[in-house]
Amino acid sequence: MTRKTRACRTRARNGVATARAANSARLGIIPPPLRDRLGFGQSTGRLGSLTQVYLLAVNRVQVQNPRVDAVTNPYTPNAGATPEALIGRDELLDSFDILLRRLERGRAEQSMILTGLRGVGKTVLLGEFARLALAAKWEVVELEAMKHDDKRFRQVLFSQLRSALLRISPRARWNDRARRAAGVLSSFGLTASTDGSVAVTWDIEPLEGAGDHGELALDLTDVLVSLGELAADHGHGFVLLVDEVQFLGERQLEAVIQAIHRTVQLRLPITFVGAGLPQIAELAGDAKSYAERLFRFPEVGSLERSEADLAFSSPALAEGVGWEADALDAAYALTQGYPYFIQELGYQVWSVAQASPITAADVAVAREAYESKLDGSFFRVRLDRTTPLQTAYLRAMAELGPEPQKASEVAKLMGRESTQLGPTRAELIDMGLLFTPVHGYAAFTVPDFDRFMLRAVPELVVPPPRHRKKDSPSDE
Ligand SMILES: Nc1ncnc2c1ncn2[C@@H]1O[C@H](COP(=O)(O)OP(=O)(O)OP(=O)(O)O)[C@@H](O)[C@H]1O
Ligand SMILES: [Mg+2]
Repeated sequence: MTRKTRACRTRARNGVATARAANSARLGIIPPPLRDRLGFGQSTGRLGSLTQVYLLAVNRVQVQNPRVDAVTNPYTPNAGATPEALIGRDELLDSFDILLRRLERGRAEQSMILTGLRGVGKTVLLGEFARLALAAKWEVVELEAMKHDDKRFRQVLFSQLRSALLRISPRARWNDRARRAAGVLSSFGLTASTDGSVAVTWDIEPLEGAGDHGELALDLTDVLVSLGELAADHGHGFVLLVDEVQFLGERQLEAVIQAIHRTVQLRLPITFVGAGLPQIAELAGDAKSYAERLFRFPEVGSLERSEADLAFSSPALAEGVGWEADALDAAYALTQGYPYFIQELGYQVWSVAQASPITAADVAVAREAYESKLDGSFFRVRLDRTTPLQTAYLRAMAELGPEPQKASEVAKLMGRESTQLGPTRAELIDMGLLFTPVHGYAAFTVPDFDRFMLRAVPELVVPPPRHRKKDSPSDE
């Protein structure tokens, strides 16, 4: 039984109102076409077995009067919120599990940098990785990368790593190895505060010659090596989970990669898993050749049809509520299997449904609330931050279609030269609104953003060229 199946079983058990033996009347709330689609009765594949777990759960639920109300709404349309049923990610969870277990045995294994568009479930996966690691008695340091300069980056790391060190080895029990790791960390922290701007509350004498080279990559390598050795001594592993990796500066990402490269060479039980927008695979700069050997870059994407059906139906089943096959057809047509869209639509459908099973009519009624919720929050927050020229750029891209667009084509539509619009394009990439899947092309980081742009900005209006001000690079 996989870890996820176990988790689902536990969740299902907890959600059970009344434990009862199965009877066919209850199974009847899942229409036969849906049961076939979900693979019920097929013994192969995780999807089949997971489905069966839910069907078993629903057998045991009091379904005569399932509550379809605000209190029981099982959908989770919130950033980073672990869904009731984490569907379609078994392979990644398994690879992470294997990674930990191999490192524990002193074996090398490629780590991962998860890449994917907004709202596909990267943060949720990192959260699951953290849970897996903690369950395996690994030490976990979680960071959300921000656009910090190197000094601030060092401070944040210092503070997190210091907590991790103290968790691995409480101060009262420090041996030489722990004292050394603390000394190296102290040097690392002090290097960040040479101008006195940082209050480092750490009364440990810095260890001269380690972690104090003044170069991020060398210093971080010293720190991770000494922490890795300490963790290994204590029979622990140590995992650094970094979300929004695309916001790390090139030097910062390179430093992490070089440090991990060294710990891998030394076979220490320490690893780094990142998650971010698709361009990060390109960002590793000079460290690229290491990165390609050290990491896999698995893509986290939308769910396939059968998985999306499960993502809609499983949370409802745990509440004793079914989805009709037509309703699932309509729901998939609207969401195309994007995890965030699934949660948002599921949430809105549940809000309008009166009883089990959920029907296509419920989905039709919920559609307006769903679309206006997406427009008003998920999409709108991104557009609110843009200048008129950036807005025009996004609008021109939308006009050209949802696929990646060539910079020269966008410029042509806007009546400008590519070179004139280069800074605007770069800013949009920097803000995480666009990414470059292939050199010379840009694509939206948010699924369906093109259609939103056409709705939100009905006409393409390109602001007249202006002379560029010194501090406003996007205004030409
Ligand atoms: N495998 C999944 N099945 C169903 N729903 C999921 C799955 N993974 C994530 N979700 C849901 O999708 C939404 C987005 O998840 P999450 O915040 O992890 O995405 P993200 O990729 O980190 O997005 P962003 O790039 O904006 O940070 C959440 O509402 C979450 O509950
Ligand atoms: Mg996220």
